[in-house]
Formats: sequence, C-alpha cells, structure tokens
Amino acid sequence: VARVVVVGSVNVDLVVRVERLPGAGETVIGRDYARHHGGKGANQAIAAARLGASVAFVGAVGDDDLGRAALAALEAEGVDVGGVSVVAGVPTGVALIVVDASGENQIAVASGANAAVDAANVKRSLGSSASAGGDGGDGGDGGVLLTGFELPGDAVLAAARAAVERGMTLVINPAPARPLPGELVALGPLLVPNEHEAATLTGRADPAEACAVLAGLTGAPAIVTLGAAGALLCRGGDQIERLPAPAVDAVDTTGAGDTFMGALAAELATRSSLAGAARFAVAAASLSVTVAGAREGIPPRDQVEAMLRSA
Ligand code: RIB
Repeated sequence: VARVVVVGSVNVDLVVRVERLPGAGETVIGRDYARHHGGKGANQAIAAARLGASVAFVGAVGDDDLGRAALAALEAEGVDVGGVSVVAGVPTGVALIVVDASGENQIAVASGANAAVDAANVKRSLGSSASAGGDGGDGGDGGVLLTGFELPGDAVLAAARAAVERGMTLVINPAPARPLPGELVALGPLLVPNEHEAATLTGRADPAEACAVLAGLTGAPAIVTLGAAGALLCRGGDQIERLPAPAVDAVDTTGAGDTFMGALAAELATRSSLAGAARFAVAAASLSVTVAGAREGIPPRDQVEAMLRSA
C-alpha cells in the first residue's frame, strides 16, 4: 500500500461567506456561518487517505473538545493518529476564514497547539508511529513524507531530516511562506508552494521564474500551483512543464492546495512519475473547489480518474 506520513497542522475552521473580501480596517457583513475541520496538514492527510494511501499523521491538538473532534475526524478517514500529541493548557488551532462569492478566501490562523510541535516531539512521534515505519529503520523505508510551514521551523526540519534518513520522498508545502532555511533546502525537498508563496520565497513575481529559482536552490524538481490555471513543474534550468487545469465552477477554493498536496503525495507513494502525480493532483484540486469547506470537496479516487480520462 502507498504509504504517506504527514507532519503538519490541525485547525478548526470558522468560516463566514461574504459577497467580497474585506479591505484593511473594513467590516463586511456575511450571512452564513459554518464550522469545518481544517488545518493544512490534517487536510492533506485526509486527501491522501481518501485517494487511497495508508496515512499516518504527526502533529498536535489541545486537550479540548475541538481537539478531540479533530482527531475523531482524522480517524474516521482511516488516518493513523498515533503520532498526534494532546497538549494540556493550550487550545487547538483555529482558522478564521472569509470566503467571497467567487470562492476566493482570506485566512488568519491562531496556531494554538500547532506551535507546540517541536523537533523532539516529531522524532518521538515518527519513532512510535507504526505507519511511519518507525522501527529504527534501515534508511530504506520508502513512502512519502509531507510537511508544511504551519508548524514551527525546527519541527519541519526534524521531519525533513527523518524523511531523508529513512529513504522517504520529501515533499514540503511552504505555506504560509517564510524564508527557506539553508539546512532545509540542502536536504533536496520537492517544494510545492502556490504562486503567491513562490513569489514571496524567491522575490520573483513570475511563477515560472520563481519555480526555476526554487528548483535551482534545492537541486530537485519544484512545483508551483496556479489555482484555476493548474500548475508548473520545473526540473531546473529552463525545463518547465505546464499542467493545465480543467474548467470547473468554483464554490470555495479553501483547501484546494491541500488537496493538491495530499493527492501528489498519495500518487508519488505509488511510484507514479512526478509529472503523472502532478497531473493527478491538478485534477483532484480542481474537483475539490466545487464544494464548500476545506475537506468536503476532496474527491475519491474514481472521480479523479474519471476527470483525467475525460480531459
Ligand atoms: O489550506 C486551508 C487551510 O488553511 C484551512 O483548513 C485552515 O485551517 C488553514 O490552515
């Protein structure tokens, strides 16, 4: 079975739908209010599981009702949560999300327990999680380890080092963007930011240029997601492949990037080619935006395959 380990964040999403996103200092009035399970890491874990991978999740929640509900939601999708810490005295992460009529969003995250995930925590969890291949390993475990920037830097670095030690494919979602530490880049991860994050990380507004810069930094391929325009896959130098997305009616783009990441990881874990996995991820992310909520639209595998066949 394709094996994916996600070391990432868990949030509860509090979502208000409005006609248009507020500007600085502005109040906008919405009608509907909804609470969804979220957090980039947990969303990615669920996407990978729904698309057929065996998934272990490493992260943290608070010792509160929101944390218990978040864990139950992961377990209900078959995700191994043995590597999740329950942190006393700290609330579970919360994301305040505003979604406009076109499906675009703005998100502010209160990290809560996610900020308590550190290197020791990650090493311990990866060591004890059965699905994470935590038997001390011979360095050839295989599988994919996916991590992202909603966790503190030392936790991300510890996860990345563990992936390389275990011979796992290392995929990093640098979201939200912050400077890439040299030690992380030196591990040669597959970096997968969206176009805005890619611009912040590289100082290049053009996504193709930013993608090439990222691939040049790591010496590995890089992918930049482009929303409705699909994604770019770069392999260094001027080797850039454009992966267009099918046209869909977007209702809510929240979690589209997470669906992309989970789908990419699940496909890479089946030893699919990188371009094949990226095309699969574009189709999965496109389907995901047709339903409201970060996770509600994550499609099952047969829907993604049907979309790829009809493309
Ligand atoms: O990518 C979408 C996610 O970002 C939401 O679920 C929210 O929790 C934030 O982490």
